[in-house]
Amino acid sequence: MNIDYKLLIKDAFEAQKQSYSPYSNFAVGSALLSENGKIYKGCNIENAAYSPTNCAERTAFFKAVSEGELTFLAIVIVGGSMKSEVNDYCAPCGVCRQVMVEFCNPETFKVILAVSETDYKEYLLKELLPVRFSNADLK
Ligand code: THU
Repeated sequence: MNIDYKLLIKDAFEAQKQSYSPYSNFAVGSALLSENGKIYKGCNIENAAYSPTNCAERTAFFKAVSEGELTFLAIVIVGGSMKSEVNDYCAPCGVCRQVMVEFCNPETFKVILAVSETDYKEYLLKELLPVRFSNADLK
């Protein structure tokens, strides 16, 4: 399937607007593309107790999986301080990378870090988590 990067990036920026981040003031948005072409948006959702905070990427994954989606092609992530426009690439944290490994093929799943619709960096999941623990280890 041809991935529409512009549309995914636009959706990630839209998701970022919903960010609930009163503690860090760091707003993150994501747009996750499933194999059948559906897009799941996610934002970070913080909590006064800090540790219940959920990253934007996991919000998108958990929305999708909870609706029966289990195969994914790509995710776009945008993030930055609420005080300015996004001006740097926002890489996924280690926990989110591990969640991606649970549901995605590291050889093909694309992680796209965007600053704008035309300025982005693209990685394969295997590059972001080259040595990993997965369901294959439990067999
Ligand atoms: N955050 C994300 O949502 N995704 C990332 O890739 C990095 C960090 C969130 C968690 C927290 O709400 C805020 O950004 C600051 O760490």
